[in-house]
Amino acid sequence: MVPKLMCDDDMVDIYSVPSGDKDSLKVTIKLSKEKIETINRICASFENNPEELINVLHETQNTLGYLPAEVQEIIAHNLKISSAHVYGVVTFYSYFTMVPKGDYPISVCMGTACYVRGAEKILEELKKELKIGIGETTPDQRFSISCLRCVGACGLAPVLMVGEKVYGSVSPDDVKKILNEYREDNEDCKCQQL
Ligand code: FES
Repeated sequence: MVPKLMCDDDMVDIYSVPSGDKDSLKVTIKLSKEKIETINRICASFENNPEELINVLHETQNTLGYLPAEVQEIIAHNLKISSAHVYGVVTFYSYFTMVPKGDYPISVCMGTACYVRGAEKILEELKKELKIGIGETTPDQRFSISCLRCVGACGLAPVLMVGEKVYGSVSPDDVKKILNEYREDNEDCKCQQL
């Protein structure tokens, strides 16, 4: 029997456990009712079809920003698949993230054209400058780093993106200059959060 979702303020028991049933699995999810309803709505828009898992994950991440374990549990529940399966897909694709991205998510293209033109050196410079690794976010939540495959701008290789903005022909020396456009203490920074 599929357990019923129950909401109580911001605590949700995905699996309701009859008292005394020690063999039942209990998972307590801490998410706002609003977020749960959003996830339910997204799943329903794909008819809770397990074959639409990737689309559901894309839409959910676009809406909530990331896919923590709690969110994965709810998706698994709605699509009637195991949370291990959802986790496997989330961790397989580099696009998906389980941690919140920074206000300015930085993506380095590691496609062939960018790679041969020095994307790795740009990545190293970014990691050094921000003191974080791939998939991590700075403590002030301002920047995060991820890698992408070809973003379709090979003529501009190597390519780096900050949010949706594309920077082409980037050299390691350009990295600091680009970051400074988004740094809080930059008085000239007229950029909006992406
Ligand atoms: S390989 Fe980087 S844009 Fe195509």
